[in-house]
Amino acid sequence: MDYRVSNISLAEEGKIKIDWAEVHMPVLSALREKYGKTRPLEGIRVGGCLHVTKETGVLIRTLKTAGAEISWCGCNPLSTQDDVAASLVKDESVSVFASRGVATTQYYEDIHSVMRFEPNITVDDGADLIVEMHKNINKIKSIIRGGTEETTTGVIRLRAMQKLAKLMYPIIAVNDAETKHDFDNIYGTGQSALDGIIRATNILFSGKNVIVAGYGHVGKGIAKNASGMGANVIITEVDPIAALKAKLDGYSVARMTRAATIGDVFITTTGCKDVIAEEHFTQMKDGAILANAGHFNVEVSIQALEHQSLSKKKINKDVVQYDLQNHNRVYLIGEGRLVNLAAAEGHPSEVMDMSFANQFLSVLRLVKYGSNMKPIVYDIEKSQDQEIAMAKLEAMGIEIDKLTDQQNRYLEGFSEGT
Ligand SMILES: NC(=O)c1ccc[n+]([C@@H]2O[C@H](COP(=O)([O-])OP(=O)(O)OC[C@H]3O[C@@H](n4cnc5c(N)ncnc54)[C@H](O)[C@@H]3O)[C@@H](O)[C@H]2O)c1
Repeated sequence: MDYRVSNISLAEEGKIKIDWAEVHMPVLSALREKYGKTRPLEGIRVGGCLHVTKETGVLIRTLKTAGAEISWCGCNPLSTQDDVAASLVKDESVSVFASRGVATTQYYEDIHSVMRFEPNITVDDGADLIVEMHKNINKIKSIIRGGTEETTTGVIRLRAMQKLAKLMYPIIAVNDAETKHDFDNIYGTGQSALDGIIRATNILFSGKNVIVAGYGHVGKGIAKNASGMGANVIITEVDPIAALKAKLDGYSVARMTRAATIGDVFITTTGCKDVIAEEHFTQMKDGAILANAGHFNVEVSIQALEHQSLSKKKINKDVVQYDLQNHNRVYLIGEGRLVNLAAAEGHPSEVMDMSFANQFLSVLRLVKYGSNMKPIVYDIEKSQDQEIAMAKLEAMGIEIDKLTDQQNRYLEGFSEGT
């Protein structure tokens, strides 16, 4: 079996971590038990390009128990947990190509190693694997049945491909499930992004001016958590509705040019590029901290930061100090990559339970129906969302009410008024 991990002897630690995550992922565990009996993925090759974390380890175990053969690589140069990667190779016989801290060339070589495995289904986070697959689409057209996409930025890229008629196989937008983006993006990133900043810097959030760029799902979660810790949160936005929601949720809203002058900590969450750019760095206070929670490392313009700096030095494994021409210092965490994965462990297992239950059920749907699906981006079916939410509630020991027949008739009718 072909693989590339940094240190296979870390497997035991990785296995303990995956076991820990499994305990906190009851929905996925129930699916593993159910489909481990019928093995609907027997003979199916799944190629994944998604953060190699302990939670992904549980997804991989589930796919494997359902019969799949698997090859996997990371979807971010800084997010791989090396011990988990080692365990997936040693204990699960999965062909993993991933290590933490890879250069861009190695990152793409790993993606190509997964492509050489000729997957029938791709599982992506950010769409790098899908985009690479499309560069050689004629070669794999007869093999591929479909793919899934985990994150907002990936879905945006794939919808752009669809619009230009460049998408060649069906994709299920896992991110767009309510049981994904309303939980993973909000509560998951909301907590883990701050965890990353705290692990990297040990700063006190209370009393800080925290600038959150973007008030979408991720931004809302981060703003709420930072505010809960006593920070003064200021939102920057480009969408008037999102900006208004932020204001009415109790935050200040300002343009980045103004926010840049008062921020102690900056966290970008937009999926857009150059949100913090040259003109902002020059306005920042001495000691400002910069972090990004959006998918790619383009939100804080590193090129502009380098251009404004006289020198830089690493002050710990996750933080680089930039000495600006105006003699102020700013600190960048995790090279401007996803701070929750670069400087912490990514989302808590409890939310990934639902995200990855969506991934698993979407893979099953593609195996069953992929050959009859069009090369477009599909939404998760409402019934799948409901099934996952119900399973999660049950696992939490929570019961909810059920509509009576009379209530159903009332909600579907129009005749009963004042
Ligand atoms: N760190 C993680 O683990 C993690 C988890 C989920 C999503 N993501 C990524 O986070 C990013 C945001 O995801 P989301 O689900 O919150 O998206 P979203 O679409 O819900 O929110 C993005 C918000 O940013 C705003 N925005 C866009 N450009 C802006 C700009 N230049 N300045 C200020 N605001 C701007 C938009 O108006 C929108 O309100 C994506 O890149 C997504 O892939 C990361």
